Amino acid sequence: MHFTSALLSLCLAAAAAATPLHLVILDVFVPRITAPAAGTVWTSRTQQNVTWDVSGAPASISNEALLMLRKGELTAPFILAKGFDLRAGSLEITVPYVLTDSDYSLVLFGDSGNFGPVFTIQSDTDSSAVEDFSLA
Ligand SMILES: *[C@@H]1O[C@H](CO)[C@@H](O)[C@H](O)[C@H]1NC(C)=O
Repeated sequence: MHFTSALLSLCLAAAAAATPLHLVILDVFVPRITAPAAGTVWTSRTQQNVTWDVSGAPASISNEALLMLRKGELTAPFILAKGFDLRAGSLEITVPYVLTDSDYSLVLFGDSGNFGPVFTIQSDTDSSAVEDFSLA
């Protein structure tokens, strides 16, 4: 046998062995929130649409959908909606009656939590209404 053809066969065998690497498509869907966008101002107790990007959504999503309100660095246990269809891409919610502030965001839980942009909620009450209750 010729050395070069044996070497070539070895290379082809190595290449063939490397091909059975199948891409495994995991059922992990992390939907990106598209509305409210950064700087949006919502008024408490109005109806608003939350929207998210459904591109790449798997046919079935095992985990339960959950939409929460976050303020600053705190993902407070405030549930806006639960058990809706993550593949729908939008959901109409009632903006909760909270203190006026500009550091709210939403967290959309599919297979993992995904923070949306920071926006403002306006109500008739701001943080000065609770200053006197500070436990400093
Ligand atoms: C939310 O979106 C739906 C569908 O586009 C629309 O019918 C509805 O009026 C929207 N709601 C608000 C509060 O904008």
